Amino acid sequence: MEKRQRNKVLVAPAWPYASGPRHLGHVVGFAVPADIFARYHRLKGNDVLMVSGTDEHGTPTMVAADREGVSPREIADRYSRATREDLRDLGITYDCFTRTTTRNHARVTQDLFRTLYEHGWLIEQTTLGAFSAATGNTLPDRYIEGTCPICGFPEARGDQCDNCGNQLDPVDLINPRSIIDGSTPEFRETKHLFLNLPAFADRLRPWIESKTHWRPNVRNFSLALVDGLKPRAMTRDIDWGVPVPVEGYPEETKRIYVWFDAVIGYLSAAVECAANRGEPDSWREWWQTPDAHHAYFMGKDNIVFHTIIWPAMLLGYGRGGALGAGTPLHLPDDVVASEFLTMEGKQLSTSRAVAIYVRDVLDRYDPDPVRYFLTAGGPELQDTDFTWAEFVRRNNDELLANWGNLVNRTLTNAYRNFGSVPLPGELTDADRAVLDGVAAGFESVGELIEQERFRNALAEAMRVSSLANQYISDQAPWAVIKSDSERAGTILYVALQCVDNLKILFTPFVPFSSQTLHELLGYDGWLAGPLELRDIVEDDGSTHPILTGEYESWVGAWAPSELPAGQQLGEPRPLFKKLEPSVVEEELARMASS
Ligand code: MF3
Ligand code: ZN
Repeated sequence: MEKRQRNKVLVAPAWPYASGPRHLGHVVGFAVPADIFARYHRLKGNDVLMVSGTDEHGTPTMVAADREGVSPREIADRYSRATREDLRDLGITYDCFTRTTTRNHARVTQDLFRTLYEHGWLIEQTTLGAFSAATGNTLPDRYIEGTCPICGFPEARGDQCDNCGNQLDPVDLINPRSIIDGSTPEFRETKHLFLNLPAFADRLRPWIESKTHWRPNVRNFSLALVDGLKPRAMTRDIDWGVPVPVEGYPEETKRIYVWFDAVIGYLSAAVECAANRGEPDSWREWWQTPDAHHAYFMGKDNIVFHTIIWPAMLLGYGRGGALGAGTPLHLPDDVVASEFLTMEGKQLSTSRAVAIYVRDVLDRYDPDPVRYFLTAGGPELQDTDFTWAEFVRRNNDELLANWGNLVNRTLTNAYRNFGSVPLPGELTDADRAVLDGVAAGFESVGELIEQERFRNALAEAMRVSSLANQYISDQAPWAVIKSDSERAGTILYVALQCVDNLKILFTPFVPFSSQTLHELLGYDGWLAGPLELRDIVEDDGSTHPILTGEYESWVGAWAPSELPAGQQLGEPRPLFKKLEPSVVEEELARMASS
């Protein structure tokens, strides 16, 4: 048989900060959409590499450490572990979810930094840095809040405004204040290495313009930025970060800016993953081949780093230093940014108290209804509100009433009357119509996933499920069985084929229930395999944990399949639990008391 051409797909979900527990507003942007995309491409038979990790350096972690009175390292360890467990339990199929505090990451980061410096893209400039008037210590960007000079938002941070998304310098803020003690910072001269972003504008502009398939939020926002670029400091006056590999920047007082090292994670984690698999050069197949496909997933506040800064770094690195070894690195193909998820009317934010943590939700609910909600009711194209009432409604009236009900009545009737997949008699027009209708879903759902329209893709899968539900209601095998067992067998055979194919169509979205269904249909093996935590040992003997999985042996494929007549069925059990309306009251009370 001719070997199918397998495309290399890099799935690059943004790296969550290890500065606190992650909430639904985080995972709705980077994790769930990326996993839908990755699972789909694996089922298509493509060579997916999904890499990410916790983003542990810089001031987000330092702020949390100060607040809790522990070291940044301790904070990073604690929340890196918590986030890994969240992502495992949500079923996000990373090939390698690692950390930015590994030796490998520091090595790759320093290679890029050094090379950009040697190519003249990092230039030294003296600027005004903020210092605490009380202690004389440096006040990193994130320690400063003030009014945004662009949009007037009163709680803009020193590095960025959460309201308008613009990057800022602390010195730009109106009425700047320290978030530690509210005092007004002093600004003093300090030297830093600046990435010469304006020098890339003429290459970035046509590149972004050519991305006509990007969501308008991403493309328009990026194009607007490209004309006003200023050099941006890539070092900071702090002692928690990757050391700067340039003379005159001692690690006691200066480190690389957290965003510089974080975006490099997509590359360094691919390098790590290849090493972990014992094929140290295999990362090049994703990073140094023009026909690979790179798709990045994030919340909208991350756009500039992925459409401007990271591409500029990749362009500046060019044919590379030690790692690149003469071949350029691949630029992003897709940059998929979701909007914000608000919470019962307020913005989900850890710092502003209204948050629903992933851990709390997974302690009380199954992952599939959560994934379903975040996709069907998430902020794909516009800010969207999470309400518990909507969560319960979507679980009961959509997931359970449509897809769950189809599976339930098909399996129960087939199991009770036949015990195995019945042998079909001759197919009627109605039988063939529903089989064709469901088979067509592979094309329609697949196309929408490829276009990163996940909400529509899931709605399309639900529409296909409704076709099969309508079919079984019309054919009523439970009534037919009383007079014509052969015809009832044929109907259930057809319905089981539909369910078997819908199982695949739903796998990217609700993988846990698809795996259960796979087993109930009498199959073996992993359709949507398990994830595992593993310890990796580096060359200096240090270890770090990663989240990984083995997806090569997955048995499913994104194509209509034939469930063999005679295959033994398992004893049916419901795929989804009905949620009582009282859940809404309970959750609201819990929020009010926390
Ligand atoms: N840690 C950042 C955030 O949570 C995202 C970093 S994405 C990366 O907003 F590209 F820098 F890795
Ligand atoms: Zn603003």
